[in-house]
Amino acid sequence: MTVTSPSDAIVFFGATGDLAHKQIFPALLGLVRDEGLNVPIIGVAKAGWTLDQLKARARDSVEQHGGKDTKPEVLQRMLDLLRYVDGDYGDESTFVELRARLGPAQRPLHYLAVPPSLFGTVAKGLANSGSAAGGRLVIEKPFGHDRATARALGRLLSQYFPEENIFRIDHYLGKEPVQNIVYTRFANSMFEPLWNREYISSIQITMAEDFGVQDRGAFYDETGAIRDVVQNHMLQVLAQLTMDPPTGEESEAVRDQKSALLKAVRPLDSSHVVRGQYVGYQSVPGVRAGSNIETFVALKLYIDSWRWAHVPIYIRVGKMLPVTATEVMVHFRRPPRETFEELVPASSGHMRMRISPDVSIAMGVRVKLPGERMVGEDVEMILTEYAPNLRPPYQRLLGDAMRGVSELFGRDDIVDAQWRIVEAILGNVTPVYPYAPGTWGPSEAEALIGGDGPWRNPNNVTGAS
Ligand code: BG6
Repeated sequence: MTVTSPSDAIVFFGATGDLAHKQIFPALLGLVRDEGLNVPIIGVAKAGWTLDQLKARARDSVEQHGGKDTKPEVLQRMLDLLRYVDGDYGDESTFVELRARLGPAQRPLHYLAVPPSLFGTVAKGLANSGSAAGGRLVIEKPFGHDRATARALGRLLSQYFPEENIFRIDHYLGKEPVQNIVYTRFANSMFEPLWNREYISSIQITMAEDFGVQDRGAFYDETGAIRDVVQNHMLQVLAQLTMDPPTGEESEAVRDQKSALLKAVRPLDSSHVVRGQYVGYQSVPGVRAGSNIETFVALKLYIDSWRWAHVPIYIRVGKMLPVTATEVMVHFRRPPRETFEELVPASSGHMRMRISPDVSIAMGVRVKLPGERMVGEDVEMILTEYAPNLRPPYQRLLGDAMRGVSELFGRDDIVDAQWRIVEAILGNVTPVYPYAPGTWGPSEAEALIGGDGPWRNPNNVTGAS
C-alpha cells in the first residue's frame, strides 16, 4: 500500500549511535523548530540506556552538531517528544514493545540508522509486529556492497515494504547546491541549447577533502572511495548535470529521467580508472596492513546517448587533498576558427558550479583586453553566491520522507544502474598508486585526463577557482 499522508510517528533504530548523534537529532530539532514537528519520536537501541540518557545524548548532539543557537524551549519541545525502547533487534519482544509505544500511530516512519547487515532483521521485526503496514522505511547507504548484494537487499526489503514506501538516503541530494544544478539548467532557457556534445567538450567533477579517513578506518577499509562517494554522491551529481528535462507532472518524472541517464552511462573499465592511496593511510587504526583500498580515484566516463556521445566526463575524488571543496566544471568547445590575432585557449569558456563548502555558479568567458590588439583574457562572471545549506540535508530529507515526497531519494532501479557503472572496477582490479597528503593525488591521474586537461583544481577561496 502506498502511504500518502504524513507520517504520524518517527522511529529511529541506532538511537545511541554515531549517525543519530551527528545528523538525526539536529535534523529533528530543525523539523520541530521550522516545521512544527509534533509526533512521537521513538529511539530504539540495544544499549541498556534510559530515556533520560537518550535525552542527554540529544542535548549533546545539538550542542556539537548544529542547533545550539535554537531557543531552549524548542529543544525542550523536541525532548518532550522523545521515547526510548531498549532491546535487541533480533528479539521479537523489542518490536512488540515498540508497537505498544507507537500507540495509535498508523503511519510511522522507520529510520534505520544501523549497519546494513541489520536492515533485513529490523524490517522483518517491524513487519511481524504490525509496525510496517502503512509505514515508511528510511535507509542509509551503503545499499549493498556490489550489484548482486544490492539486488538481494532490494528483494529482501520488498518483502516487507513496497518500493514507494522505501526512502534511500543519499545526503548529497539534500544539498541545496546539488538541487540548484537542475534548477539552473531547467529554469533558464539559455543553457539547454548548449547542453550537449555540439557545445560541450568535456566535464569534470572534483570532490576533494583535505582530511583523511579519521576514526572510520575499519569501515573505510571495506569500502574505498569508489563505493563511499562515487557510486552514490558523484553519480547523482552527474545525473543532475546531464539528465534530460523531466516531462509531465508525474511525481516520478525526475527519477525516471535520472534512471534513464544512469542506464546510458557506459560501464567503467580498468583503462579509465586511476586509484590512489595517501601515504599514512595504512597506519590508521582499523586499516589492514598492506591494504589496497583506494582513498583517491580518478575516472573517465562516457554516456552513450545522442546528447552526450563522445563527451568525456571526468570524476575525481580523494581524501587528504589540498582543499575541501566539490566543484563541477563544464568546458565549452573552442570557437570553430580563430578570428583574432590569438589562439583562444582550449580552457576558455566554461561553467563552474561549486557545490561545497561555499556555493557559486560562474561563467568563464573570454573578453578583450583594452588596447589596439584583438587579444583577450579569460574572466569569470559569478552568477550566484550564497550561504550553503540553508537547511541541512538531513532535515530536508527527513521532512520529505515524512511527507512521502520521494524525488530526492534513491530508487531500486537507480541504485542498480549506479552499481552497474562501477561494478567492473570494484576490488583490486587496477593498481593503487601512493600519493603524498596535501597533493592532488598520484600523477597517473594527469595521464588519464591527457589532452582534455588539465584538471581544474578547486580553490579554497570562496568563489575563486
Ligand atoms: C559521506 C562519506 O557519504 O560523505 C564520507 O562516507 C564523506 O567519506 C562525506 O566525507 C562527504 O559529505 P559532505 O556532506 O561532508 O561533503
